[in-house]
Amino acid sequence: MSKIKDHRVFLSVEEAPTSWYNMQADLPSPIAPSLHPVTKKPLQKEDLSAIFASALIAQENSPERYIEIPEEIRQLYAAYRPSPLSRATALEKLLDTPAKIYYKYEGQNPAGSHKMNTALAQAYYNKLEGIKRLATETGAGQWGCALSIAANLFDIECAVYMVRVSYEQKPYRRSFMECYGASVIPSPSYLTEAGRSVLRPDPASNGSLGIAISEAVEDALSREDTNYCLGSVLNHVALHQTIIGEEALRQMAKAGDFPDVVIGCHGGGSNFAGISFPFMREKLSGRKVRIIASEPSACPTLTRGVYAYDYADNAMLTPITMMYTLGSNFMPPGIHSGGLRYHGASPIVSKLHHEGLMKARSYTQNQSFEAALTFARAENILPAPESSFAIKAAIDEALAAKEAGESRTILFCLSGNGLFDLSAYDAYRAGQLKDISYDEGLLRESLSALPKVEND
Ligand SMILES: Cc1ncc(COP(=O)(O)O)c(C=O)c1O
Repeated sequence: MSKIKDHRVFLSVEEAPTSWYNMQADLPSPIAPSLHPVTKKPLQKEDLSAIFASALIAQENSPERYIEIPEEIRQLYAAYRPSPLSRATALEKLLDTPAKIYYKYEGQNPAGSHKMNTALAQAYYNKLEGIKRLATETGAGQWGCALSIAANLFDIECAVYMVRVSYEQKPYRRSFMECYGASVIPSPSYLTEAGRSVLRPDPASNGSLGIAISEAVEDALSREDTNYCLGSVLNHVALHQTIIGEEALRQMAKAGDFPDVVIGCHGGGSNFAGISFPFMREKLSGRKVRIIASEPSACPTLTRGVYAYDYADNAMLTPITMMYTLGSNFMPPGIHSGGLRYHGASPIVSKLHHEGLMKARSYTQNQSFEAALTFARAENILPAPESSFAIKAAIDEALAAKEAGESRTILFCLSGNGLFDLSAYDAYRAGQLKDISYDEGLLRESLSALPKVEND
């Protein structure tokens, strides 16, 4: 018998899930309706149809527990899914922990992150409805890369508003998107009123996801042939990402295990939703599992934000949504995990957090990079800076198990690889990264501008 062990657990394409899981069907009570940004009345389908494909609007509000994945998307998924689930045995050994650490790796597809799972679905539904052009924003660049690939596959034009600080930190992200035919615009830009209104008082603005969203929405509203796509936050985006957790559940069962704790990093909430919602369903049906979101202390939406109605963007063009928020004009410091620099959160994740069904933790970027290098040197994969927040929480859990002298099964989502983030790793290794904790006064100021809404 061979002594060689494979620490990965695979599913075949035949064993892959054929439906996405809609967490909304199992929430203790429904999420509050989103409101029109001007009338502040509950949003109607028609309000969204100016910028979204109707199939995506239907998914956004669907009461169905399971939504079948169209065969064409399953065929495209089959080029890189099911993604592997791996046991981090070298990391366990390094930490000398009795805990078992599993990670679900989403960085092996051409875009390098979980964002591909929804990019393919969004491009597919827009193509079916005859859309010729998509406008979007990107923070770290991962989402922009994924949508550029998907748009090219479906022969749709793609305009990407990229948060300026990331545009400057990651020049090869722009090249990558352009290789697939996308046009990439540093945001804030002079192309939109939303961008100009930020640049007038602050011509050197770093930008933020909130501003880039405003620009992309304004672009889509101004053109008949263009729809808008978002890489996180929305219910249909969380829905598409549940393929991650559905696969992980089956892979854990194959390994003869079930996690005591499930961890995802948290920006707008999509990879966290993806890995955790299927396990949350299990929790709600009586199985024991803790669920943890890990976020940067420089952008502490779940740990220091408030649960309130707020705009998803900076220019107040998007619906007002009940969610955890730091205030829509919150300007996060230019940290290197650009994908986590968002003031708000998925309404479903927010609801679960508000109901006490999950926990959130925050870490500094130096803590996350230290965890990233520990992981990389043990397991060989260089993680995306965003994913490193999940790694840090997983390492803490493993060390706590060691301290308590107990076994513990930990599952985390390794949402992407860090191959485009080497300048961030250089800065970390040179000791140049600052740990910025968000100032209480600035936080109070940005929260004081929350919209006034009846029954809030
Ligand atoms: C690799 C990676 N992980 C996580 C995130 C955070 O986004 P979300 O919370 O939607 O998963 C991003 C966002 O760009 C990302 O690129």
